[in-house]
Amino acid sequence: MLAIESLIREHQTIGRLVDALEAYALEIRYMPEVDVAQLAEFAAVFIEFAECLHHEKEESILLPALGRSGVRWEVGVLPAVRREHRQEAYLIAVLRQAGERAGFWSAEDRRQIAATAQALVEFQRAHHALESAELLPLVASQLGEQQQADLKAALERFDARHASRRRAALARIERLVVRYAPASRSGVYAVFVSETAAQGEAVGRPAQR
Ligand SMILES: [Fe+2]
Ligand SMILES: [Fe+2]
Repeated sequence: MLAIESLIREHQTIGRLVDALEAYALEIRYMPEVDVAQLAEFAAVFIEFAECLHHEKEESILLPALGRSGVRWEVGVLPAVRREHRQEAYLIAVLRQAGERAGFWSAEDRRQIAATAQALVEFQRAHHALESAELLPLVASQLGEQQQADLKAALERFDARHASRRRAALARIERLVVRYAPASRSGVYAVFVSETAAQGEAVGRPAQR
């Protein structure tokens, strides 16, 4: 098993959560009957899984391991990744605050919340693209066999220490994905919602959901 296999799997999980958020953002933007309470759930799950578990693992284990092997800490991809984690935390905080005001959103609030959610979606996808292209390959190119084994063990220890939190967060993600993500993957749902909204109709869920 690759040293960083758990990080790659988490990227896939966060990617599915992002798909779900994208579909939910469309509902916020266009659906009169959107379940506003779910915004707080999305924000909470992003904080718990993406920030407190995944980013924490990258920042406290992966990046220091690369730094110790000679990868520059203050220029290049390592500071870029840390900087993006801070920017992403800001977007999530904005959504969390909006979630606390659920039920009191004006039409303009909904437009802005949907735009922030979509910004987080795009930011997260770009962040994973950066890590896949420039960060994760450094493990194989910069770490020796023993260093990779040490990294793998450290990541596994982190996961074991947080096993119950991970299980709970994954269950919450799965609920959001099942509810929102399946129809968004093909893009059909996005087209359906935007076209129906453009026609000025009340929007309902497509039959296949
Ligand atoms: Fe990551
Ligand atoms: Fe990251």
